[in-house]
Amino acid sequence: MRLIVRVCGPLSGRVRAPGDKSISHRAAMLAAIAEGTSRIEGFLACDDCLRTAEALRHLGVTVEQAGVGTLEVHGEGLDALREPDAPLDMGNSGTGMRLLMGLAAGRPMTVTFTGDESLTGRPMDRIAEPLERMGARVEGRGERCTPPVTVHGGDLGGITYAPPMASAQVKSAVLLAGLSAAGETTVVEVARSRDHTERMLAAMGADISVEGLRVTLRPGRALRATSMSIPADLSSAAFLLAAGLLVEGSDVQAADALLNPTRTGLLEALEAMGAKIGLGGRRDVAGEPVGTVRAQPGALRAAEFGGDLIPRMIDEVPLLAVIATQAEGTTVIRDAAELRVKESDRLAAMAEVLGAMGADVREREDGLEITGPIPLSGTTIDARGDHRVAMSAAVAGLVARGETVIEGAECIRTSYPTFVADLRTLGADCIEESDDD
Ligand code: S3P
Repeated sequence: MRLIVRVCGPLSGRVRAPGDKSISHRAAMLAAIAEGTSRIEGFLACDDCLRTAEALRHLGVTVEQAGVGTLEVHGEGLDALREPDAPLDMGNSGTGMRLLMGLAAGRPMTVTFTGDESLTGRPMDRIAEPLERMGARVEGRGERCTPPVTVHGGDLGGITYAPPMASAQVKSAVLLAGLSAAGETTVVEVARSRDHTERMLAAMGADISVEGLRVTLRPGRALRATSMSIPADLSSAAFLLAAGLLVEGSDVQAADALLNPTRTGLLEALEAMGAKIGLGGRRDVAGEPVGTVRAQPGALRAAEFGGDLIPRMIDEVPLLAVIATQAEGTTVIRDAAELRVKESDRLAAMAEVLGAMGADVREREDGLEITGPIPLSGTTIDARGDHRVAMSAAVAGLVARGETVIEGAECIRTSYPTFVADLRTLGADCIEESDDD
């Protein structure tokens, strides 16, 4: 599928982006090992989260679609998980694979995980290492333990683990394994990564405590089934907000957006660039802060970003690069080498995509440098199988001269199936064309 985007007039309106992807994965997994029936409203029906739901079915859990966007999960506790009779295909989903590896490691079973071309190239050694220290055996391909990867689970012991990178996926995999381990498990982070696993485990009755960058889980308590409503994904809403900032005369509001401070790095970065961002209607939903975010255009100035801010906007860095093309001066993004092992090498991808559109962008080992403002020109972009690269290119296309054609745009379904419809609701000129058109 290709997405064709043309420069457009002012965008306006209020849109609720679909449910948060990270929270949807965790809600399904924790409900699957809780005792009783959990009802999850606003579950994100994207390819990635549907893979997780399907994998849980293969692990013996009854997961039902109970109306649009509602999932009912009938958990019977951790002990009820059973060995699947075939490899679990996690598609494009790193989160699904890594978190389920942690869950599987604590059970007396062997589970093989596989995925698409992108996922089978991604490193699983970061998960294998702590799980092996806990007592599991993990086999993957080559030095970096790429999938297909097989987890031989069993008797685990709790560990104290300090991952070398700030990664919520690693932290969560270790904590999920810790639920089945003897003794307590502690993860000490280098910088705070998203904390949805900790919040949800606490809300469902686990014995978990957080002190600064240290999270400790004591196993033994059964998780309580729960009903929850999933906030809108700020990582998806960010594309609409960025469009609102860049397209002259716009006024865009993203409703019910997740405002967990481990996820709002982009909003802080934009404020540092002088962007007009407003926050309203703050409240708590399912133990997570949410609110309405409003974006309007205004003069943007370049800034430098790195350190602890990066993990809090890790998925928004490609989009920040697009915004930086329209800011006055040189924006420097550093400490972001983790982007090289996402769904694609996102530093290389954004340097190439924005370069092809006429931006002044330089790739650093650990980030990007972008000098603006520079008028962009539409061209044909390959999405590289990466949903966030595709959507970032679409936002760039809204302010580029001429037409921007994004080939392979079907990958957007990975995280934001209604992206094109939502952009159109705001008034954007974008259409999808199937490959046979
Ligand atoms: C995620 C964590 C992040 C993020 C990914 C979702 C999660 O990955 O990039 O899209 O839900 O835990 P890392 O934890 O590997 O940085």
